[in-house]
Amino acid sequence: MKLLESIRLEIERLQQTRTFKTETLIESEQGPIVRVGGKDVIMLASNNYLGLASHPRIKEAALRGIREYGFGVSSVRFLCGTLTIHRRLEEKLSEFLGTEDTILFSSCFSANEGFFASIVNERLGFEEYRDVIYSDRLNHASIIDGTRLCRAEVVHRKVYEHSSVENLRELLETDRNTGYRFRMVATDGVFSMEGDLAPLPQLIAAAKEHGCLLFVDDSHAVGVLGRTGRGTPEQLGVHGQIDVLSGTLGKALGGAGGGYIGGKKDLVTFLRQKSRPYTFSNSLPPSIVMAAIEALKLLDEDTGLVERLRRNTQYFRKHIQQLGFTILEGDHPIVPIMLGEASMAMDMSNALLAEGVYIKGLWYPVVPKGEARLRAQISAALDESILNRALSAFERAGKRLAVI
Ligand SMILES: Cc1ncc(COP(=O)(O)O)c(C=O)c1O
Repeated sequence: MKLLESIRLEIERLQQTRTFKTETLIESEQGPIVRVGGKDVIMLASNNYLGLASHPRIKEAALRGIREYGFGVSSVRFLCGTLTIHRRLEEKLSEFLGTEDTILFSSCFSANEGFFASIVNERLGFEEYRDVIYSDRLNHASIIDGTRLCRAEVVHRKVYEHSSVENLRELLETDRNTGYRFRMVATDGVFSMEGDLAPLPQLIAAAKEHGCLLFVDDSHAVGVLGRTGRGTPEQLGVHGQIDVLSGTLGKALGGAGGGYIGGKKDLVTFLRQKSRPYTFSNSLPPSIVMAAIEALKLLDEDTGLVERLRRNTQYFRKHIQQLGFTILEGDHPIVPIMLGEASMAMDMSNALLAEGVYIKGLWYPVVPKGEARLRAQISAALDESILNRALSAFERAGKRLAVI
């Protein structure tokens, strides 16, 4: 059959170009140490930034969710899938993020898809209209796909250079009198390949000046950045000033799954009516909802985990550089360790696994040619002795492969 033959050829191409993604089997819970192939290794590749994926309070809250509300809700929200705890979580998220209201989705991927498609595909009283979305070149796949779901004949998608407010302003200026109905700027808060932050204060100013709505996906920053873990806006001094914030419960806030959009009350009400992944897909299971409420309580009570994450990140960044590795500077627990060629990233990743450290490499086409890297992700679940063991493994592997 033609289709299956084409699929086989594409799989072969991925394997030949060494872009085929392999999946490593983890034999334990997600934590600072995981079991792989019967051996304990240090985990430096997960988004488990606060260590909540296996935190006793979070696990107990999830079990409480099952005991009190059962395993599943067997419904979408508007039929019989809205439990009191769904609303409680939405209210807690709104408080935490500084938004008027928040709506839950089954993931941040579907939140982003559901947002763009429902906002710009509606006529909303306009007979004829054209909308435009300005999107950072390095935005996450879910923003790209979300904007692709918009009807191409009426929604223009324009990409600005990564984090370049200057380039964005040029595009905004060019479009000043072109009669667009809605204009939106969309950006990640933290970009996952480099761990760098979007210039939110400048983006807010540019969006305001041009009457644009600013959308920020803060998946890698909520629970991570800012003094109290409220994300990139808190870190950059603009908490509560973003028009639309999306994010995930699948990273720092427990790591199981789930996503959300926060914004003005009317916008959230509108999404409840019109956003198809919300309307036509099951609501989040009680275990995840209760665990996320507990995660937010934990962050409210005490900033200890966020501080520990910050200390661990600073410690690792400082010492990996002292060993002679080149990293991309920054404050985020995503630490890209630059190695150049893809083959070196693959060899280092394998050598480190043999040394007891689990870390993944990234290479072209995920990052530009010649900029292959290992991406370390630091967690509050790690401690100094584990970090020291990881750093010794880096030293041995780096010397053996002549990287340092
Ligand atoms: C910036 C960003 N947005 C969205 C997502 C998707 O989140 P979820 O796993 O909740 O779908 C990710 C996950 O990789 C991400 O990094």
